[in-house]
Amino acid sequence: MAPVEEPVVIPSTLVGKRALLGVTGSIAAFKAAGWVREMITESVDVTVLMTGTAERFVSSLTFGALSGNPVFRDMFDEEPDKLMAHINLSRSADFILIGPATAQTIARLAHGMADDLLSTVVLAAKIPVIVCPAMNSHMLTNPVTQDNIKRLQDVGYHVVSPDCGMLACGEEGSGRLPDWQHVREAILSILCPQDLAGKKVVITAGPTREPLDPARYLSNRSSGKMGYALARTAARRGAEVILVSGPVALAPPHFVTTLSVTTAHEMREQVLAQAKQADIVVKAAAVADFKPKSYHTQKIKKSSAQQRIELELNPDILAELGEKSKSGSLLVGFAAESQNHEQEGRRKLQQKQADLIVVNDILGESTGFDVDTNQVTLVDKKGSQQLQLLTKTETANRIWDHILTL
Ligand code: PMT
Repeated sequence: MAPVEEPVVIPSTLVGKRALLGVTGSIAAFKAAGWVREMITESVDVTVLMTGTAERFVSSLTFGALSGNPVFRDMFDEEPDKLMAHINLSRSADFILIGPATAQTIARLAHGMADDLLSTVVLAAKIPVIVCPAMNSHMLTNPVTQDNIKRLQDVGYHVVSPDCGMLACGEEGSGRLPDWQHVREAILSILCPQDLAGKKVVITAGPTREPLDPARYLSNRSSGKMGYALARTAARRGAEVILVSGPVALAPPHFVTTLSVTTAHEMREQVLAQAKQADIVVKAAAVADFKPKSYHTQKIKKSSAQQRIELELNPDILAELGEKSKSGSLLVGFAAESQNHEQEGRRKLQQKQADLIVVNDILGESTGFDVDTNQVTLVDKKGSQQLQLLTKTETANRIWDHILTL
């Protein structure tokens, strides 16, 4: 009997994870205290290790109070529960996060030094190590520091690039410790199977707006949540993600290239340009099928408003991609239906020459437009499969799982 394949677990939160947070002697150490609060809020068990210089910036009392765990500092701490800490600590953690990581710590890790607790724990670790450099821009761009960072990456450490902006030393430039949400996304990606690594995916999301006059437009209820969930989960699973997004109220996902468009014509232009080099194209956007036949350069006055607005068809981007998709990219369309889901999905699969159609019911209270959940039916050439009601993030992961079988 072939062993039943366990469905791959794709984490979409850090809940229940155990983190070792290494804090080093940078002014940005105060931000690491905020990271601890964020992790505790997400039910992450955090144990903090500090270098001696880190305590010059933030006291271990702060980290102890925030984490609710003892803070480890000195390798030769005699306290009974801290003996052999350099070995035991990483054995009971899921990942080590070093933030801020100073140039000094990066240099020591890159050369296998083990003369303090943090460097010894890292050297003995068999779990993912995520390093977040933070320092003055010139220190960061110094070729020696860059060599050390590259060496860490070459031996498998994960380095989260610093942000650009105003630094504590008053200079502008790269070297700022990133915000927690950005680092959290990097951790999630590291904990995810990288089964989309090497793939370039183009995803569309959100509505389009078809202007009528300077104040008015035709649009629809798409919030972008489904497309953004597809982009975020693809990035976590290692894909290079281009997100072509209509106007939405969502923050661009981390580690994703987001291209903003407004009208169907603008979306078509961007999608056709990006799709040429894509392995997979997923069309989750609610592209307006029609636009006003004429655009009024002045705001239409109530008195002169006609009772009718003449409309004309917009280009069908999915159909156009279907004709071109012989270039090898796998084409996934969505179908917003209110009835005959599977039948409509199959019709669109053939009509648009797509490889997969994801049908969702737009009448359901918890499915379709502008909600955080969805229940979709996956229709491809081999058949169809209805998923249960899931969050849009879980739905997105299941869509990627299915795409990987095609
Ligand atoms: O964004 P949310 O609030 O999370 O809502 C998600 C969603 C309901 C918008 C999404 O799950 C969805 O169903 N998107 C497709 C909506 C849509 O336009 O469905 P359709 O059946 O009208 O279009 C079929 C397919 O053709 C879609 O892939 C669409 O992107 C594409 N299309 C449609 C019209 C057009 N002119 N060009 C296209 O490419």
